[in-house]
Amino acid sequence: MERIHRKDYRASEFLVDTIDLVFELDPTETIVRAKMQLHRNPEVPAGTGPLLLHGDGLELRALRLDGAALDGSRFEADSQSLRIHDVPDRFELATEVVIHPAENTKLMGLYTSSGTFCTQCEAEGFRRITYYLDRPDVMARFTTRIEAERARYPVLLSNGNRVAEGELSDGRHWVQWEDPFPKPSYLFALVAGNLVCHEGTFTTASGREVALEIWVEPANADKCAHALASLQAAMRWDEERYGLEYDLDIYMIVAVDDFNMGAMENKGLNVFNSKFVLAKPSTATDDDYEGIEGVVAHEYFHNWTGNRVTCRDWFQLTLKEGLTVFRDQEFSADMTSAAVQRIKDVTRLRTAQFAEDAGPLAHPIRPESYIEMNNFYTATVYEKGAEVVRLYQTLLGREGFRKGLRHYLERHDGCAVTCDDFRQGMADANDVDLDQLERWYFQAGTPVVRTSGAWDASAGSYAMTLSQSQRVFPDEPRPRPLPIPIRVGLVGADGNDIAGTVRTLELSEDEHTFTFENVRERPVPSIARGFSAPIKLEMERSREDLAFLMANDSDPFNRWEAGQRFATDVLLGLVGRVLEGQALEMDPALVQAFRRILSDGSLDGSIKALTLSLPSEELLSQELSQVDPDAVHRAREFVVRELGAALRDDWMSTYAQHRQGTDAVDKAQIDRRRLKNRALRYLVALEEQGTIALAVEQFRTAAGMTDYEAAFSMLVDLDSSEADRAIAEFYDRWRGEPLVLDKWFRMQAMSSSPAAFDRVVALSNHPDFNLANPNRARSLLFAFAAGNPFAFHRADGEAYRFVADRVVELDAINPQVASRIVSSFNQWRRFEPGRAALMKAQLERIAGQSGISKDVLEIVERAVER
Ligand code: PHE
Ligand code: ZN
Repeated sequence: MERIHRKDYRASEFLVDTIDLVFELDPTETIVRAKMQLHRNPEVPAGTGPLLLHGDGLELRALRLDGAALDGSRFEADSQSLRIHDVPDRFELATEVVIHPAENTKLMGLYTSSGTFCTQCEAEGFRRITYYLDRPDVMARFTTRIEAERARYPVLLSNGNRVAEGELSDGRHWVQWEDPFPKPSYLFALVAGNLVCHEGTFTTASGREVALEIWVEPANADKCAHALASLQAAMRWDEERYGLEYDLDIYMIVAVDDFNMGAMENKGLNVFNSKFVLAKPSTATDDDYEGIEGVVAHEYFHNWTGNRVTCRDWFQLTLKEGLTVFRDQEFSADMTSAAVQRIKDVTRLRTAQFAEDAGPLAHPIRPESYIEMNNFYTATVYEKGAEVVRLYQTLLGREGFRKGLRHYLERHDGCAVTCDDFRQGMADANDVDLDQLERWYFQAGTPVVRTSGAWDASAGSYAMTLSQSQRVFPDEPRPRPLPIPIRVGLVGADGNDIAGTVRTLELSEDEHTFTFENVRERPVPSIARGFSAPIKLEMERSREDLAFLMANDSDPFNRWEAGQRFATDVLLGLVGRVLEGQALEMDPALVQAFRRILSDGSLDGSIKALTLSLPSEELLSQELSQVDPDAVHRAREFVVRELGAALRDDWMSTYAQHRQGTDAVDKAQIDRRRLKNRALRYLVALEEQGTIALAVEQFRTAAGMTDYEAAFSMLVDLDSSEADRAIAEFYDRWRGEPLVLDKWFRMQAMSSSPAAFDRVVALSNHPDFNLANPNRARSLLFAFAAGNPFAFHRADGEAYRFVADRVVELDAINPQVASRIVSSFNQWRRFEPGRAALMKAQLERIAGQSGISKDVLEIVERAVER
């Protein structure tokens, strides 16, 4: 397997001015003709070498250079590349290839999804469509002519503007598209099918009218309103926040059921996983609505950060992804609630990215090498990348960040650039030196910041010492200190911040002591407010101080965080007792702290629900040097039951008070549902007939999917007939709605019931299970392996074997999705020796199978070695 290194980057010897594509669409055999104008890159000196084009699984039918067919001695073609010798400095190349969309199960390149043709070209899918310089620093102007049978494919779409159309013989028709903006091939898109359009418009700040079109299968026409509203909100927000306007007269989104990722920002023609488009209250939850709003915005924001200014090479992926995730996080914070959004984003970072950083696949946000690029669409590149972008804003302020972003985009408009160009743009616009920030781009691992403080009563001052340390990797230079902004405040006994103590400390050395004056009482420090850097904080804190911050911190993120730390402390203590075989006892102070939150009139229902949630088993496991999943599970279940029982009356009255409402998806109703369902969860955990009846009742009468799904997930946790009945009823009602049926698979896969594993095995043989559909495969297998640690890590290793078998099967169909699922084994070294050995054995078994993809092999070999 070939490893590609960042340091080996070379500019392309050839560039493409224009490419004119013609598609003769047919599911079994599509003909693709490409006519390109190429020239030697003047920046690459003394170029005399051959032209080398990428290909993948292509069959060459014709080849002409400047209009003349080439004789066999002038070129070499195989399915992976096309090499042409003795080419002039400037020439036209015409190719014709044949591809087979209906057989394309990798879902990269041109494929069909429920009969609709669609494309996915990022990162290296365009080479599965035609021979090309398939690299992001080669930008060309594209035109696309699509020909297809009119009856089956009345709608033919591609990037840019529709410039002509017409009829052909035999019931076929054609449409011609022209994209005026030069773009890299990874942003090419084509869609053809029987789709309907949900239309809207947007008038830009400068008064241009843009047509907005959301294309879906006819049956989904009533589920597009939210996606359209999200798009309009995102367009407005980017104008207001950054002064960025859309640049074409049309913006299209197409929803398809088979898609490897969330969505794709192709110029003017986004292709989306239908999960991130389709919603109405009866089929989508509040979280689904927020997911759609965030992803629609994300893809829209890419039009500037990604498309107009793109990446020089794939090592720079975080340049567009980290930045665009940051932008969509800021947008969602403005649309919903900044505190709730921050808590969600940080929880996702900790769950997925901190684990990655602590495991064998740890890599910097700008990786140094890869075998399969698809494996580097990671939580590190995306989520940690977004946190690193946030550092600029924390250091420069919102205004400085805006200035820097605009400067970067103006300077590099139409170009393919690097993360260094972004940092330089930010620095130049603000006239500051940001060189040290580069370390965040090449050092992997989650930095740990240790803090200690001393209050000097007589001097009336407080000294806070911060020190940092990084994970050390063998064969890599010793890590250097990072610039880490730490937002702090010192909280006085009355619960308010002591005047003059709310500051942003800049830690840029290994250790530094910061002094606060005029501190006349012993303060409780609140550190890393708003999660001001992607670090782990270590600090000795009493449970009293944590309960105090939980009740009083003026920073809503740290209020929540104090509660999580408090609960984690209690839970880890109990894990220890489980392992030592001691009796478990609940800390009444945690109960008290929960009661206070429940009755706090200043908090909204969403924040309350989050504060009253315990850290997940995954997050707790991260705190242990050796994980025993049974002990973690038992400790957590114990605390859930104790909180349920001790606060039974409070949960009951909370539930009763918030039970009635509408299915509207607005802040008031979302807050109400979140709090109510949190209360119900604690009640159902008591496994009393009376509380179970409440969940059954909610399941039967729920107006919207949020309440329905919540009740269902509680019922499938039970080891009783109510679970089986709910499973049967759900299926009967929703078998015809794929996205809802995905929930049915997912909730069962994530159930804490002892029956979960047997159900998952049975579901893998269910007629509605389909390994080739990524959403369905993930709903069962990824949900189980990554979201149900208790069942996945059963001590006999049977679940490991089951998942490994499915990974091997799936790998033959879709390596990209298989490699995501196999990553669930990455943490094997962190488990107690019995499980570790069983997991490792499965990794070795997978690696030993013949014909395994390089996607899966790269992950598995890394995991075994490191
Ligand atoms: N570029 C897409 C996004 O983040 C993600 C993606 C990557 C989609 C690769 C498909 C394939 O918006
Ligand atoms: Zn993106």
